[in-house]
Amino acid sequence: MTDHPFDLPYERAQAVHDEPASHNGATATPHETDDMQDMRDMAAMPDAASQPQPAALPLPVIMVRNLAKTYQLGETRVRALRGVSLRVERGEFVAVMGPSGSGKSTFMNLLGCLDTPTSGEYDLMGVPVGRMTPDQLADVRNRRIGFVFQGFNLLSRATALGNVSMPLLYAGFSKEEQERRARRALQLVGLGKRLHHKPTQLSGGQQQRVAIARALVNGPNLLLADEPTGNLDSRTSVEIMALLQALNARGLTIVLVTHEADIAAYAHRQVAFRDGRLVRDEPVLAPRSARDEMEESLRPATQPNEVHIREELP
Ligand SMILES: Nc1ncnc2c1ncn2[C@@H]1O[C@H](COP(=O)(O)OP(=O)(O)O)[C@@H](O)[C@H]1O
Ligand SMILES: [Mg+2]
Repeated sequence: MTDHPFDLPYERAQAVHDEPASHNGATATPHETDDMQDMRDMAAMPDAASQPQPAALPLPVIMVRNLAKTYQLGETRVRALRGVSLRVERGEFVAVMGPSGSGKSTFMNLLGCLDTPTSGEYDLMGVPVGRMTPDQLADVRNRRIGFVFQGFNLLSRATALGNVSMPLLYAGFSKEEQERRARRALQLVGLGKRLHHKPTQLSGGQQQRVAIARALVNGPNLLLADEPTGNLDSRTSVEIMALLQALNARGLTIVLVTHEADIAAYAHRQVAFRDGRLVRDEPVLAPRSARDEMEESLRPATQPNEVHIREELP
């Protein structure tokens, strides 16, 4: 059973984000908020996947052929997906775009095995989802795929640690091990100092980071994010994108839905839906770097952008 694709954790750090040593644990600059320091701590964290490095796996993470989904609403049939084919390799960062109602969420729900297609095939890491047993499907949803949504979907009465521990309840870990893993996931997303905060005591961006930690705590192979920055201001959105880019650099495969071109520009590949069909699929030649943009915004303005107007007198 050990060579079953589902037993392989996602890749260990590939040192893609070659962080200058001086940044790790560096003291905060005067303008730096706690969050910014947290984000630096996040980058300095050791790798999330503590298991040994897996052998190269040639199988794509996602292989979808001619996927269709029709909803029956009384007399009306809604053809939400009309035959979508897509292959996503391990380590990709794909942005899914398209107008409202074009089928993005329907597609994500199918990728996440939260719903079943009307027709078509879906292989997840080489395993046909249609032939999975209920136990395998439960395993996929709980451990192999992490989900992040627009509304953070946190339990309001639980602390950050409690929320992140939730997916571990079913995995049979001891209480101590649950807490150790949850703490580690929260450190990974830069919230190591807010373990005991409840959602109402956290900003929107921090709540989304708790949700991301919860999605990561079981070491998934695939992260599915449906408009994760939809409720956040643009500065906070960049922080979330920096986190997702850092995770992707560690080998996590990410599929992210957004209708904002600005956000899709952080991905390495963009696909677009329209009326239930995939109408565009292209690489992003120069993806934006959210980390660079964050650091740029912190840099003190040594040379202010003065505008010189030299009036030409007649
Ligand atoms: N559970 C459902 N029952 C009926 N129709 C649905 C359901 N979910 C989505 N739809 C319809 O399917 C189409 C695609 O919706 P959706 O996948 O949510 O699009 P998007 O996420 O791109 O906005 C829309 O016409 C929507 O109204
Ligand atoms: Mg949607």
